[in-house]
Amino acid sequence: MNQQSNEPWWKKAVVYQIYPKSFLDTTGSGTGDINGVTKKLDYIKELGADCIWLTPMYESPQHDNGYDISNYTKIHDMYGTMTDFERMLKEAHERGIRVIMDLAVNHTSIFHEWFQASRESKDNPYRDYYIWKEPKADGSPPNDWQSKFGGPAWELDEVTGDYYLHLYDVTQADLNWEKDEVRRQVYDIMHFWFEKGIDGFRLDVINNISKDQRFLDDAGQSVQGDGRMYYTDGPRIHEFLHEMNQEVFSKYDSMTVGEMSSTNIADCIRYTRPDRQELDMTFNFHHLKVDYPNGEKWAIAPFDFQELKSILSEWQTKMHEGGGWNALFWCNHDQPRIVSRYGDDDTYHQQSAKMLATTIHLMQGTPYIYQGEEIGMKNPRFEDISSYRDIESLNMYEVMLEKGKSKEEALAILQVKSRDNARTPMQWTSEKNAGFSTGTPWIEPAHNDISVEAALKDRTSIFYHYQALCRLRKELDVITYGSFSLLLAEDPKIFAYVRESKDEKLLVINHFYPGEADFTLPDELVQAVDEMEGQFLLSNYEDVPAHIKGFTLRPYESIVYHLTKR
Ligand code: NOJ
Repeated sequence: MNQQSNEPWWKKAVVYQIYPKSFLDTTGSGTGDINGVTKKLDYIKELGADCIWLTPMYESPQHDNGYDISNYTKIHDMYGTMTDFERMLKEAHERGIRVIMDLAVNHTSIFHEWFQASRESKDNPYRDYYIWKEPKADGSPPNDWQSKFGGPAWELDEVTGDYYLHLYDVTQADLNWEKDEVRRQVYDIMHFWFEKGIDGFRLDVINNISKDQRFLDDAGQSVQGDGRMYYTDGPRIHEFLHEMNQEVFSKYDSMTVGEMSSTNIADCIRYTRPDRQELDMTFNFHHLKVDYPNGEKWAIAPFDFQELKSILSEWQTKMHEGGGWNALFWCNHDQPRIVSRYGDDDTYHQQSAKMLATTIHLMQGTPYIYQGEEIGMKNPRFEDISSYRDIESLNMYEVMLEKGKSKEEALAILQVKSRDNARTPMQWTSEKNAGFSTGTPWIEPAHNDISVEAALKDRTSIFYHYQALCRLRKELDVITYGSFSLLLAEDPKIFAYVRESKDEKLLVINHFYPGEADFTLPDELVQAVDEMEGQFLLSNYEDVPAHIKGFTLRPYESIVYHLTKR
């Protein structure tokens, strides 16, 4: 595709994330498919997204919905064929939409042929594609690391009597990135997809690939006790990513986004500063842990608003100063719906969904919209464990019961924390199964009246607010390049910030609560407002304040004010 300037295209792009399994089923199988994606490309275009990210559709036994890959160059039957994929890619490109694939190479499925060979004997040539260790003298695992999905991170394999490492599900064995041949294989897979014409990769938990080779015990050093300090942003991670960049990414006009688990700002600057030639941008999750009391995901607590403001603004200012680039997001297939989380999905559904969208989209970075977010989809509030499908939720449910929680308590926690909150079928219409499938959906749809059909008919809907945000990003350079400063840092209800470049300022004021909140323009901006040309650009109410210098914000009100040189 043509590039308009020397700047990489993804700096002004908005990415739409598709979880194909729950997007649109065109066969009646109950599972979404590639042709369903093709069918909705016009819808994505209308929203204003420039790129789609598809979660894994490779051959997989689906223990972790495709993040357990058994063949990296085949399309899983359930999603269609390679021909369907190629058609989808072509049709996306014809509409000017780029396509990013999702690659999980920290681990493969244990049903991948490499692992099958590796487990056969200690001297199999594939043995050290994975991380095998002998048991301790008493037969226990090599160290105390825990899987992120619950239980030990080591599984004993009867065939040779050694343990293999799996930081995720027991069917997801960690690859040994120390082995040159493993890295070569991964680069070959990447070339295979780039040669097909894709535009980039989202790299699953990529900052976990380099393990500290001492394999020491966590011994209570991390809050989670899982050993994360020995593989998060590990010893050779920057070397591996630079090599990957030189071997693969630098050869294409690509975009790469790394999913970074428990990372830090300094490393994310290293990952994304262009001169280091590693990745283009990173996802981090710190702003989505402000409702984890004492770092514990599987517990319920209100979100800490001050913490949210301080985390987001620290990442904004430091990544800007350090020359790094953020991926901006509230939602993905692993996160509960944001409107049910930091918003109000009942009384102020529309207002809070729009306010949250404005807050994140006008920051510096590349924004991501997760399917259904643009129509304000909510957590489904499943009432029975039989409605859940996610391996992590099912494992953690058992762990919670073992730790003494009642079934009711454990279910109440899943209702707000489960990844299945994001995985219910996309709500297209008011028909059966929300228009997602004519068969029996693999996961129950949420029961409410939200739908794309209704959103498109209503000019005041959440959809059109997202559309306006996508448009503004194209129109105003200050969104892409401006600096970020937090305003009213101590205010308990307002998240306000200013984006600034030489001739422009963008003032973004968001009220995160019901009730009212008084806003007074901070002194440092009064002169700018007096001297510059100002106009209200976007709001989530029908009318705007009489003057930007001071006014009362209504529940979840969000105001964007633009200043330019006279
Ligand atoms: C992160 C993915 O987003 C998640 O869905 C998956 O379970 C883990 N990585 C393991 O691959």
